[in-house]
Amino acid sequence: MCTACELYADATQTVFGSGRTGAAMMLIGEQPGDQEDIAGEPFVGPAGRVLDRALERAGVVRSDVYVTNVVKHFRFQRQGKLRIHRTPGVQHVRACLPWLRAELAAVEPQLLVTLGSTAAKALLGAAFRLTQHRGEILEYENRPLVATIHPSAVLRGPKDRQAEMFDELVADLKLAGHTAGSV
Ligand code: URA
Repeated sequence: MCTACELYADATQTVFGSGRTGAAMMLIGEQPGDQEDIAGEPFVGPAGRVLDRALERAGVVRSDVYVTNVVKHFRFQRQGKLRIHRTPGVQHVRACLPWLRAELAAVEPQLLVTLGSTAAKALLGAAFRLTQHRGEILEYENRPLVATIHPSAVLRGPKDRQAEMFDELVADLKLAGHTAGSV
């Protein structure tokens, strides 16, 4: 268990990444959600199901990639029986970065994909704007990085934009797959 910030106190467990070392691609989300906190695995809830569909459409096999989050504990607010997601603060991202660094050193992926703006800002700086650079091949510490939207943005987006947002996610994952040579 990690106690580098206070989030461990209310979460069920630390959720590290999942996948094999040597994976060509590392997908980096924000933080575990309600279901991930319980299962102890990243992206197994509703956002994970969108991610799975998008990976399949992009021709990327999930078991070939390493999937993780910048923050390894679920940050939430209780509302009755519900645990409502809260975006992690910069202090949580900062406290958790050594874990991501350790995962990068262990997995040695050729390419990174950030899912959503928390992950992109964690690696590329607070001034990074996903709306301006989504789908571009950027760079993080000498590795190519593709910044795309978070799968949960597809679920939360306006109904008439959801299909288009899903297609954007698929296109970015396809670009990442081709760039990493894993498709
Ligand atoms: N959202 C994330 O960013 N990561 C998960 O693991 C689940 C939902």
